[in-house]
Amino acid sequence: MASIKVLGICGSLRAKSYNRSALLAAAELMPADMQLTIAEYGDVPLFNQDVQAQGIPAPVTRLAEAVSAADAVLIASPEYNFSVSGVLKNAIDWLSRVPAPPFKDKPVAILSATMGPLGGGRHQYELRKILGCQDALVLVKPEIFINVAHTKFDAEGKLTDEPTRKALADQMVALQRWVARLAPR
Ligand SMILES: Cc1cc2nc3c(=O)[nH]c(=O)nc-3n(C[C@H](O)[C@H](O)[C@H](O)COP(=O)(O)O)c2cc1C
Repeated sequence: MASIKVLGICGSLRAKSYNRSALLAAAELMPADMQLTIAEYGDVPLFNQDVQAQGIPAPVTRLAEAVSAADAVLIASPEYNFSVSGVLKNAIDWLSRVPAPPFKDKPVAILSATMGPLGGGRHQYELRKILGCQDALVLVKPEIFINVAHTKFDAEGKLTDEPTRKALADQMVALQRWVARLAPR
């Protein structure tokens, strides 16, 4: 079976981001026929409709092409002030303005890691709403909220919490099935 290309998008640009570490854990735990690449999009400018009118910036085009080329997208993001991180929202706003918005009909799974007690639950429902506006096909369950993240990753960023590793592995299997259901090969 051809491999399923998953693009990881991290909603935090922090070098030691727990969400980035969660993406790396997902890559380790996903079924053998899935492959994860993490998008590097820290150079996407702040959205400005005047800039858009002059042409889509190259970093936005690169990110749009990466989303388009992926069979599925896995978004891992912190919650900022009870909502979606500005970095992630800004990127999605840009992607919604390219000639062929790449989230349309794209299978997407989301997870979040935060140092707070709720693990980003408040932001995930905001994010589902935003992705709904893109016509993305967001996996409903299992939901992954990695709370008190600083107790679940070691100093090297490895996910050490066994129940969370199991939940992540289960979500990757669910994403594999979601892709197969939406785009039978
Ligand atoms: C601007 C800002 C807002 C935050 N707001 C929240 C919040 O609403 N809920 C929460 O659980 N944690 C919040 N945090 C703490 C994050 O959970 C914590 O910084 C987390 O490590 C960020 O994810 P990262 O490790 O992937 O960068 C906030 C952090 C920042 C910098």
